[in-house]
Amino acid sequence: MQTLNNKTVVITGGTDGIGRALVLAAIARGARVVTCGRDQSKIHALEAEAPVGKLCVVQADVTSERDCERIVSQAVAQFGTVDVLINNAGISMRGLMEEGGTSIIGVIKRVMDVNFNGAMYCTTYALPHLIQSKGVIVGISSIAGYRGLPGRSGYSASKFALQGWLESIKTELVDKGVHVMWVSPGFTASNIRNVALNHEGRAQGESPLDEASLMSADQCANIILDGIEKRKRTVVMTFQGKQTVFLNRFFPSLADKLVRKFFFKEGKLIK
Ligand SMILES: NC(=O)c1ccc[n+]([C@@H]2O[C@H](COP(=O)([O-])OP(=O)(O)OC[C@H]3O[C@@H](n4cnc5c(N)ncnc54)[C@H](OP(=O)(O)O)[C@@H]3O)[C@@H](O)[C@H]2O)c1
Repeated sequence: MQTLNNKTVVITGGTDGIGRALVLAAIARGARVVTCGRDQSKIHALEAEAPVGKLCVVQADVTSERDCERIVSQAVAQFGTVDVLINNAGISMRGLMEEGGTSIIGVIKRVMDVNFNGAMYCTTYALPHLIQSKGVIVGISSIAGYRGLPGRSGYSASKFALQGWLESIKTELVDKGVHVMWVSPGFTASNIRNVALNHEGRAQGESPLDEASLMSADQCANIILDGIEKRKRTVVMTFQGKQTVFLNRFFPSLADKLVRKFFFKEGKLIK
């Protein structure tokens, strides 16, 4: 067990949802945190909640390589090192390939850009520091990184890509003492479904799930931080999430039927 006390933790997308909960929980465990987001009002709200000297928030968009370089250089300038990088910033989508003509192409590109390229840029710039600190690289994936989900084809693609890429660099970095892992939350209450892109690339502005019944972002964040401190290889969360991963691996045809039943009613995507 290697605790986060006195470690420098970089968390992308830390101004809302799971990322915000990760920021506050990591600080509570004694870490110094550098995070980012695009919306200045959310940045101010987060800064107001954190103890002085423990948090640095950079206004940055992870789809910009320059911004990712800036996040890492800010962490090193302020705290001298990077011990843990949590690639958390992510967006989702809800749209079927058959609807809305070709506009879905732009949606999928955008989701890949944030969820995969953003993680790849930040990891690349942080890597020399993580090798020096023998640190940890974390990808916040999803159950959609194990099982393709209807209406979320680009989201699933981005999380499969993230996991495949992390598995590759995990093997590359074995001799360097860098631990690489990914965690897959199940449905967790957050803003992600509200801002998920519809097939036209606009925020859908609502959640098709009962957010109050989902795992809380605080609980999710603490499971993630426990997994990092224990240097787990992967973490899969919630009973429904574990069941989906298990069924898809050993009974894929049954998983096809159950997933279709969960997301569709009378031929229409309802979730
Ligand atoms: N909630 C779930 O049910 C669930 C389940 C499985 C996996 N996950 C994963 O968990 C991660 C966090 O999701 P969440 O549910 O906490 O979402 P969220 O509530 O929408 O929060 C997303 C955070 O990322 C930031 N962000 C989004 N796009 C960004 C960009 N281009 N550059 C920099 N920051 C950006 C947002 O701030 P700004 O918008 O201000 O930039 C916000 O701080 C994602 O990777 C998601 O795929 C979530």
